[in-house]
Amino acid sequence: MTRLSVNINKIATLRNSRGGNIPNVAEVAIDCQKFGAQGITVHPRSDERHIKRQDVYELKPLVHTELNIEGYPSEDFLKMVIEVKAHQVTLVPDLPGQLTSDHGWDTIKNEAFLKEVISRLQENNIRTSIFVDPENKIIDGAARISTNRVELYTEPYAKNYHIDREKAIAPFMSAAKHAREIGVGVNAGHDLNLDNLNFMCKNIPNLLEVSIGHALIADALYYGLEKTIQKYLDCLK
Ligand code: PXP
Repeated sequence: MTRLSVNINKIATLRNSRGGNIPNVAEVAIDCQKFGAQGITVHPRSDERHIKRQDVYELKPLVHTELNIEGYPSEDFLKMVIEVKAHQVTLVPDLPGQLTSDHGWDTIKNEAFLKEVISRLQENNIRTSIFVDPENKIIDGAARISTNRVELYTEPYAKNYHIDREKAIAPFMSAAKHAREIGVGVNAGHDLNLDNLNFMCKNIPNLLEVSIGHALIADALYYGLEKTIQKYLDCLK
């Protein structure tokens, strides 16, 4: 079964909007796991506008499922994820100040840089994933740099799902199949929600993990966190 990792950035955004500690990011992480999530994802950015460095250090001992830390591999970021011994690190090519991740790595142009970063993380027993668009040549590049996994950037799928879902899923099915054939694990994330998740999961049998934040936290306003996580887990069955 595909694992659900809940991205709790939005909880930190809400907390930071008032200062103080409501809602409590650590408690939400504990509860997400209690309600069935199989991982917690955070994306600490250099401006700390949602998850702060301190959150990352506090979360690690509380996350007994899998702590997936996303981010651009700056020296600071690498030092932090190695120190906290993240279970998985997902590298994203974001620039500082970017609103949200909106493209994958060019694994060909950045081959030397990514290879060095990935071997550093793996030497520290951290599983690596890199955020990519669903293109075979990019996945081939990912295999050459020996990453354990790729995370397929699913925003284009989500955007086109209601127009023509067969067409929207096609490049993702083909990229996931190609990744499997060359021994690269497949995660996915961005704009996945209760409408589009089940179709993705049904059509990508080798999908190992999805990380979902924005829609899941918004759904929790209506259904509550426990019921929402259950609904997402049902989509992954
Ligand atoms: N994967 C990556 C690399 C991301 O940057 C994000 C957003 O932080 C997600 C997945 C989750 O996307 P969403 O919040 O739309 O579920």
